[in-house]
Amino acid sequence: MKILKLSIWMIGIALISSSCELLNPQPKSPVEAQATTMDDISILPEPMYTEAGGSSFIIFDALSVLSNPSQEKNQNALISGLEERVGFAPELIENNRDYQIALSIEPLSEEALGNTANEALLDEAYVLEISEKNILLKAATDEGLFRGIQSLLQLVPSESLTEGEQEVYVLPTLKIVDMPQMEIRSAMLDVARHFFSVDEVKRYINQLALYKYNTFHMHLTDDQGWRVEMKNWPALTEIGAATEVGGGAGGFYTQEEFTELINYAADRHIEIIPEIDMPGHTNAAIVSYPQLNGNGKTPEVYTGTNVGFSTFDANNEEVYAFLDDILGQFAAISPSKYIHIGGDESHVTKKKDYIKFVERVEALVRKHGKVAIGWDEITQADISGPAVVQLWNNEKNALVGVEKGMPILLSPAKKAYLDMKYNEDSEFGLNWAAYIELENAYNWNPSTYFSDLDPSVILGLEAPLWSETIYDSASLEYLAFPRAIAYAELAWSQTDNYNWERFKSKLKSHGSWLEKQDINFYRSTEIDW
Ligand code: ACM
Repeated sequence: MKILKLSIWMIGIALISSSCELLNPQPKSPVEAQATTMDDISILPEPMYTEAGGSSFIIFDALSVLSNPSQEKNQNALISGLEERVGFAPELIENNRDYQIALSIEPLSEEALGNTANEALLDEAYVLEISEKNILLKAATDEGLFRGIQSLLQLVPSESLTEGEQEVYVLPTLKIVDMPQMEIRSAMLDVARHFFSVDEVKRYINQLALYKYNTFHMHLTDDQGWRVEMKNWPALTEIGAATEVGGGAGGFYTQEEFTELINYAADRHIEIIPEIDMPGHTNAAIVSYPQLNGNGKTPEVYTGTNVGFSTFDANNEEVYAFLDDILGQFAAISPSKYIHIGGDESHVTKKKDYIKFVERVEALVRKHGKVAIGWDEITQADISGPAVVQLWNNEKNALVGVEKGMPILLSPAKKAYLDMKYNEDSEFGLNWAAYIELENAYNWNPSTYFSDLDPSVILGLEAPLWSETIYDSASLEYLAFPRAIAYAELAWSQTDNYNWERFKSKLKSHGSWLEKQDINFYRSTEIDW
């Protein structure tokens, strides 16, 4: 009797499990698992901790993504990113099964991440586990999952293993625990010297997202152009946006278009910081509204590349009323905590006027609920609120800023300016600070840039791209890539993980993806592409 009961029970189990398999069959990979090594893991920037699993997860057209209703945006980013790489979109499924990618929001263990107290860094942390059967990506926030998705997408090789009808792609099995070293990992684009369209800016933001940038600083105004529509001040764009370096047509973003850029970046967990450069670099605003002028000369539209000849009038209350309105409009549109107030190269502003101006403008930024960032000259002023100094030229200015309680955003021109030529033969770029070949871009340590300072005063690293010599996506990409990938590694990866030889060999495998995307990157001879 007992035996009969047991066998009925066993038959029952067998029936249930075989009907489950029928309902939810385990997809059969068209190829066997492949052996993989650390060399098959080409993620840039280098993750904090990587453990190779030795085997593989085979991507073929039965791949699915387990639906997580709280993760619609990340799911879409994952599915469309995979589709771009493998040519088919994985199916979104409702129930767990083998051969799936799952995105999970959960607290990550302190054991894995160490005991960093910086919440902003923890928000970007993720754990990626790839076994032969499944892929699991875990993070405590949407942002962490987004960063992890970039790593996963980078693991898809540019070539499929098989050709023909059933293409398969081999991913290495692994475990990755990753988080950034620096809170701000930024790129800046100057859209004032040459205007870049909404689509061109989106294209660059999209490229930066793949390398885990989280900030995009837009240099929106300069002598040659004012590039965002301002309510109440129509001449800023009617006159101030009508040209650019070399006399081209210029252009500007409507407030709706600027908001569209902010949202596009935010979808990629990138924050746009708007910059209104002042009191110098203001010719375009001054030709539009001559009452702002502080240099005594009749302003004219400017399409050259000199600097240091324009200034707002620091002793005219009309200037502060104008800026109150302008900064208020930016504060209303921009979700960023920061507004950049420029402050560089104000060569025709008297020092006492410059100091007064910066102090007044910082107070306006604070009045509108934001924190001011300025180029390193701003530390001459005694700013009352919290502010950030962006080092570009003068280390002493940055050190004065630290004494005044300001964190440093690092952009030393001789190391981190993307508009510097690679060498004498570079097609685009300038060379007033340095030639910056890829190895020079990579081989330095932002945390110890100031040997006497505690690295915690370094808020982040930014790679600015000034646009005197560039005017479209191809010329932009020639200067930005591959150096922007080097800066991403310096800012994201832990210092112990900097390794030029490894970076070079990983970058080589990124070259084919850059090519597939028609990114016009500089083929540095330092890389065996
Ligand atoms: C700068 O390059 N003038 C900040």
